[in-house]
Amino acid sequence: MPTLSSFLDLKSFTQQQFEKLFLRAEKLRKSSEAPVSQGERLALLFFEPSTRTRMSFESAGYRCGLGPLVFDGGPNTSLEKGESVEDSILNIAAMKPRLIVVRCSDGVDLASLSRQVSSPIINAGWGVKAHPTQALLDAVTIRRKLGDLQGKKILILGDIRHSRVAASHFELLPNLGAKIAVCGPTDFLVQKPGVEVFKSLPEALEWADVSMALRVQFERHFEGQSPSSENYRRQYGLNLEVLKHLSSQALILHPGPINYGIEMELEVSQDPRSQILEQVETGVYVREALVRMILENSL
Ligand code: CP
Repeated sequence: MPTLSSFLDLKSFTQQQFEKLFLRAEKLRKSSEAPVSQGERLALLFFEPSTRTRMSFESAGYRCGLGPLVFDGGPNTSLEKGESVEDSILNIAAMKPRLIVVRCSDGVDLASLSRQVSSPIINAGWGVKAHPTQALLDAVTIRRKLGDLQGKKILILGDIRHSRVAASHFELLPNLGAKIAVCGPTDFLVQKPGVEVFKSLPEALEWADVSMALRVQFERHFEGQSPSSENYRRQYGLNLEVLKHLSSQALILHPGPINYGIEMELEVSQDPRSQILEQVETGVYVREALVRMILENSL
């Protein structure tokens, strides 16, 4: 039996792998498949808050026949007694769950941990480093609506520097042939080869096939780094007025949770172009496809 691989980033994720994952997720959306096993667990270790990622992995696990083994990092755990995140992961791994899904901060060396444990680890959001399953479900959402991503123009908008979602898209989208542009406050932008930078939000929206707004990550800013919410909203917030610059065929994405009234008004999330809840639904099938393909060693 070959050693199953952990899934920590998308650096070498190819178009071919993406198409395989896309087709599997679409198949799973239409009909359920047989359980992968009985009586085994999918460990869900969340050391940072989550709603969508945790619950969609839990749903995906149920669909695969894997019961959840949940650690939410709350006050009733041994973290309160000073146990480290690393020791927590090693101890839960010793209970031999089939797979381990982890959300943690940048300071945790997930790559090293994945070499120390026998169950594959899936990155469910790792500091600002990567959130690979979010990028995959975004790409699958786009693929369902607009077809092949080759040549598609994806605008990433807002707090890009502090976003693990953006970090994973910088790894994934170029390998799928998509073009990337960014727009946001100067302090929040990052320089990447081949990534266009727009200073004007209306011009950026006119360029885009997909406008992906990001949450302003206030909790990751240094003191004094956050722009005022009012300034941000005025310059970079999506509202129905500025959306007149976005094509009627274009898509609006946001990974959630949304700061309404800062990066996006409520009406924008309800616009017919918005795919925000579609992203969440797609996340269940993409994560189920990923879990199954890791366990089959077929990714
Ligand atoms: N998009 C995302 O990661 O959402 P949660 O933080 O709710 O999991």
